Amino acid sequence: MSERPAGDIIVQQDELAAKVRELAAEISRDYSDVEGGVLLVAVLKGAMFFVADLMRSLDVRCEVDFMAVSSYGSATQSSGVVRILKDLDAPIEGRHVLIVEDVVDSGLTLQYLVRNLRARGPASLAVCTLLAKPAGRRDADEVKYTGFQIPDRFVVGYGLDFKERYRNLPYVVALDDLDG
Ligand code: IMP
Ligand code: MG
Repeated sequence: MSERPAGDIIVQQDELAAKVRELAAEISRDYSDVEGGVLLVAVLKGAMFFVADLMRSLDVRCEVDFMAVSSYGSATQSSGVVRILKDLDAPIEGRHVLIVEDVVDSGLTLQYLVRNLRARGPASLAVCTLLAKPAGRRDADEVKYTGFQIPDRFVVGYGLDFKERYRNLPYVVALDDLDG
């Protein structure tokens, strides 16, 4: 049984690699002088490959921590009601925090995360997302780094799933069939 789903490839493997290096160079520049370096807060599970690749390309003091959240809703649509499944290991007060996300769709999950983390008193808070869909742009002020602006379609691969499948694909593909 092949895991290659039917659909258009939206971002190729080499484009992902090039963009990650580009973003890492920008982040390294922006955080080169900050006290304590940058703390990457990766949102599980979708951002797992992105944060691993991004962090390996950073040329600045950095640490990583993880959060897992689940947004109530269907498999393909977020409701904005978010539950924390795994919280950060350590406080972020006074730290320069960069949230690392796989995709901003409606922006509701991110909005919740930003509010939640801001209340903990970080020195600064910004967001780096690999993918952004058109709808998410409205209240996404904190999104300082965006890898790719993509069409309003459901995509999988490079960490992103459909019902936990397809995370292992090395590229990003828009699923033709959302019934499976
Ligand atoms: P939002 O709250 O609508 O911005 O959705 C955010 C979360 O929904 C992301 O962190 C993903 O986990 C998931 N999501 C949104 N769009 C997609 C997609 O196209 N493929 C896979 N997961 C998605
Ligand atoms: Mg997901």
